[in-house]
Amino acid sequence: MAMVCLSDFEVYAKKYLPKTTWDFFAAGADDGTTRDDNILAYKRIRFRPRVLRDVSVMDIRTKLLGTEISFPVGIAPTGFHQLACPDGEKSTARAAKAMNICYIASTYSTSSLEEISAAAPSGFQWFQLYIHRNRMVSKKLVQQAEALGFQGLVLTADLPYTGKRRDDVRNGFRLPPHMSLKNLEGAFEVCKMMRIPHSLLDPSVNWNDIHWLQSLTYLPIIVKGILTKEDAELAVRHGAQGIIVSNHGGRQLDGGPATIDALVEVVEAVQGRVEVYLDGGIRKGSDVLKALALGAKCVFIGRPALWGLAYKGEEGLQDVLRILRDEFRLSMALTG
Ligand code: FNR
Repeated sequence: MAMVCLSDFEVYAKKYLPKTTWDFFAAGADDGTTRDDNILAYKRIRFRPRVLRDVSVMDIRTKLLGTEISFPVGIAPTGFHQLACPDGEKSTARAAKAMNICYIASTYSTSSLEEISAAAPSGFQWFQLYIHRNRMVSKKLVQQAEALGFQGLVLTADLPYTGKRRDDVRNGFRLPPHMSLKNLEGAFEVCKMMRIPHSLLDPSVNWNDIHWLQSLTYLPIIVKGILTKEDAELAVRHGAQGIIVSNHGGRQLDGGPATIDALVEVVEAVQGRVEVYLDGGIRKGSDVLKALALGAKCVFIGRPALWGLAYKGEEGLQDVLRILRDEFRLSMALTG
């Protein structure tokens, strides 16, 4: 089967992954309205193309907080990559390094931070943090990420509790016994469970915790899960250096806005004081261009990266990224 666009990888993953894994990757909260709208919203946006502008030479590189990447797409943090391919997050790290882009490794990885870092030495990696009730666990992870050379700390702000994903409940989804949440090993008895019980996530996390994180690390803090101008302003005031406009791929609150629709108010509120990124629903190069045109510095992909891993591990993820890069370049040329 010729892999021509990201949907081809989706079709492949749906066909070959175990149903429970596919359902877990695909899940949105409740009715999946926000998850689906993340994609539909791009279809409502039209370009205003210009012509005869000499597009024979184009530079698609950009910088994230000063670090150069080869094009403005990165890998959003998603858990459990071993469900997609045997080498899990190590494959993801290698693919991201080969493509010279940023990989945000999840707290809920099935490889440890050491393994991820060792798989792609000097790769551009950020670490995504969920703050747990046992603050010592989170403190240790943050300091370990800094020591290992991760270059940014992404605080996910939209998961005080896990959203209700109906298929996961129906399937009784659990991590298979041979996989574990490597970063939390030893910390909790429950590492092998898919859900961290609510009592272990800290639902009391609030803006003041950014100061706590700043007291632990020199890493820049990027807040993920912002959808409003009010929260964008709070993030800037509390010293965040980046914002990811995100609704967690529609897996948390159902009924919130598509991220591309929320982007504009966030960009307007921030007024260039910090970098603004976006994830959710990016499936084509033209989606990347629309997000950049509306003010994002870079976008991140969640599910499409998992589909690439499911297709052919590291190589499959590189294929996904190359297709997105080439489509993005073509969209730039065709819009002038
Ligand atoms: C996620 N997401 C996520 N976010 C996060 O901050 N930490 C995490 O561990 C996870 N885990 C996770 C697992 C799976 C299977 C999915 C699909 C998503 C959310 C992710 O970072 C991102 O916000 C969305 O995936 C972006 O939407 P798309 O690209 O999947 O449409």
